[in-house]
Amino acid sequence: MRLQGKVALVTGSGRGIGQAIAVRLAREGARVAVEDRSDNAAAEETLAEVRDAGGDGCVIAGDISTPEVDRDVVAQAVATLGRLDVLVNNAGIEKRADFLDVTEGDFDAVLGVNLRGAFFATQAFARHVRDRDGGGAVVNVSSVHEELPFPHFASYAASKGAVKMLMRNLAIELAPLGIRVNNVAPGAVKTPINAALLSNKAELDALLANIPLRRLGRPEDVANAVAFLASEEAAYVTGTTLFVDGGLLWNYSEQ
Ligand code: BGC
Repeated sequence: MRLQGKVALVTGSGRGIGQAIAVRLAREGARVAVEDRSDNAAAEETLAEVRDAGGDGCVIAGDISTPEVDRDVVAQAVATLGRLDVLVNNAGIEKRADFLDVTEGDFDAVLGVNLRGAFFATQAFARHVRDRDGGGAVVNVSSVHEELPFPHFASYAASKGAVKMLMRNLAIELAPLGIRVNNVAPGAVKTPINAALLSNKAELDALLANIPLRRLGRPEDVANAVAFLASEEAAYVTGTTLFVDGGLLWNYSEQ
């Protein structure tokens, strides 16, 4: 088991990719703080799956777009589980709108969770690591859209591009604390975030035609990559993005 004795905090792990990550890390021996916006049944279900996987942990509720909440979430995880070794900044939202119609409220909501949340959760985590014996790993769940334009999702693409540079910056700045920082960039994964698209057959078929491996990603595909980057097997990996996208990002062919 690659994370025996480690403690991980996974934001947005009440469902979707975050839930799969929490369970995967537990299977590797980690104890997991299951963070979600509210202390809901889904988060409790994730914790139950973490326990079934042989791990243990707790549920922590909080809207991570607020920096005080980030500090409180990290403090609660440390108080309950003793320490933190791994932070997975997974929580993310998207709002579809033509650029001309994007509201300030939607922009703030998307940047608040996707960027400000990752930023200040990482700051709180890094302060904790500084105050103990050093060493740790941060994995951000970004997106192919940290590189790839995403028309009608300008705020989302901007937030993911920002998380790419945040990751690169912190890989350097936090290296003296022994903290590695990397991104996992999923492509099209079947989760609640894209339920509307996936329920439309014509749009789904068009999407699949764009994916060289011709299938959607599974949350577990992403969780496997996170487990690797969180573990000692990735001890020399920092400042990089691992794409888990079935080839979507660099897909190009003529005729
Ligand atoms: C988005 C999905 C989208 C996928 C592929 C993800 O980051 O959240 O809505 O389907 O990228 O474009």
